[in-house]
Amino acid sequence: MKKYYIKTFGCQMNVYDSHRVAVILENMGMSEASSIRQADLVIFNTCHIREKATEKLFSDLGRVNLIKQERAAEGKNTVIGVLGCVVQAEDEQIAKRADFVDFALGPLTYYRLPEILQKIARKSGQTIIDTDFPAISKFDFLPENKSAGGCSFLAIQEGCNNFCTYCVVPYTRGVETSRPVEQVIEEAKKLVDGGTVEINLLGQNVNSYHGEDKNGKEQSLAYLLRKLNEINGLKRIRYTTSYPADVTDDLIECHRDIKKLMPYLHLPIQSGSDAILKAMNRRHTSGEYLEIIDKLKSANPYLGFSSDFIVGFPGESDADFEKTLEVVDKVKFIQAFSFKYSKRPGTPAAVMPNQVEEKIKKERLQILQDKLFDYQLKFNQSSVGKTMEVLFEGKGRHPGQLTGRTPYMQNIYADADKDLLNKIVSVKIGEATMNSLSGKIVRE
Ligand code: SAH
Ligand code: SF4
Ligand code: F3S
Repeated sequence: MKKYYIKTFGCQMNVYDSHRVAVILENMGMSEASSIRQADLVIFNTCHIREKATEKLFSDLGRVNLIKQERAAEGKNTVIGVLGCVVQAEDEQIAKRADFVDFALGPLTYYRLPEILQKIARKSGQTIIDTDFPAISKFDFLPENKSAGGCSFLAIQEGCNNFCTYCVVPYTRGVETSRPVEQVIEEAKKLVDGGTVEINLLGQNVNSYHGEDKNGKEQSLAYLLRKLNEINGLKRIRYTTSYPADVTDDLIECHRDIKKLMPYLHLPIQSGSDAILKAMNRRHTSGEYLEIIDKLKSANPYLGFSSDFIVGFPGESDADFEKTLEVVDKVKFIQAFSFKYSKRPGTPAAVMPNQVEEKIKKERLQILQDKLFDYQLKFNQSSVGKTMEVLFEGKGRHPGQLTGRTPYMQNIYADADKDLLNKIVSVKIGEATMNSLSGKIVRE
């Protein structure tokens, strides 16, 4: 086997995991294929968070199977593997609905890939499924992360103990675990040595981080941020996703003290109604959420917020939904992700009474998104005329153009030489739409 192709669905944790899988495969002597058609090994890293994501996987798998057959006619073998959260939840479905899949590994066992691929080579034709929750952390087995360029993800925490009643993550990713402080610092230093200037610390519930230090003492995310702040060459730090009830005063102070910490925070509220938050098993009210936002703004007045919302959770009335709109008007989020509630088998909310009709969910999502998009556009427009520090991350749509991100995670395009890739450059903002900015590099 020579070439691999990985398709990634879902959250940033999956993007990070896929990157690590690529490192495992490259250590085995493989290289990345430019398309599925060229690949001897095709891997889908899957997401189970909403129904649509799972259905899309099965239709994509069907398409890959056709390619597998075409390649077989040319005498080429194709191994198809599925990783990620769908495997954890639906291993039987995969074996039943896609029996051409050669192996399926849950999110915590993909370090076994080399062994599994060798097994497949030996006895071809059988699907191998491994969804154990191993006692030892997967990070202990993985080869070192390599730099992903100017901006890199670094997983520091995985799993979740919150059990929001709509969510599959505690079941697919298991209980919450934190990587030791030293391991994180070491990985961060390696990334910086490899050219990374921005690190985004990842975790399903990242601010509940409680990794052990050298002396076996548990340390917080705030402690870790202060340690990372000391790394020379690291210029920007972000962390995502945070749980409101776990935002400590110490963490809030980091937003006052650490200049490298970008002035953008993703802090999901889900709903503005306390009755719905309670039914969701969220450990915060909307009032408590707003209080945290106020404290954060006092610590750093330049902070911008983003959030996740679910509309049409079982029992959500018009009045409940209005409360969500009120929160949006109060916080004026600069970005947001909003979803229609999706029933997930095995979660408590799936069997709650008073499920909301699809038509109403659709209407509410439209109303919410109109409001959210309006604030996002207004924020982007308020950037026009300002000079912002942009980290260029990739090629733009047009030749001679690069694309990057401002401190507020806004997408931005500018004419720039490709030498500026992975560098932080001052850009004067010229135009703004809801989704992106454009500007000109400021020459000193
Ligand atoms: N750990 C993070 C995010 C987890 S999943 C957090 O707690 O915020 C990302 C987002 O998907 C969630 O914030 C939620 O808004 C959404 N989501 C999760 N389960 C969902 C479901 N069953 N239906 C619709 N949206 C869902
Ligand atoms: Fe899911 Fe809630 Fe955990 Fe986020 S905090 S991963 S929404 S259970
Ligand atoms: Fe999806 Fe799993 Fe992430 S369900 S959102 S890939 S943790």
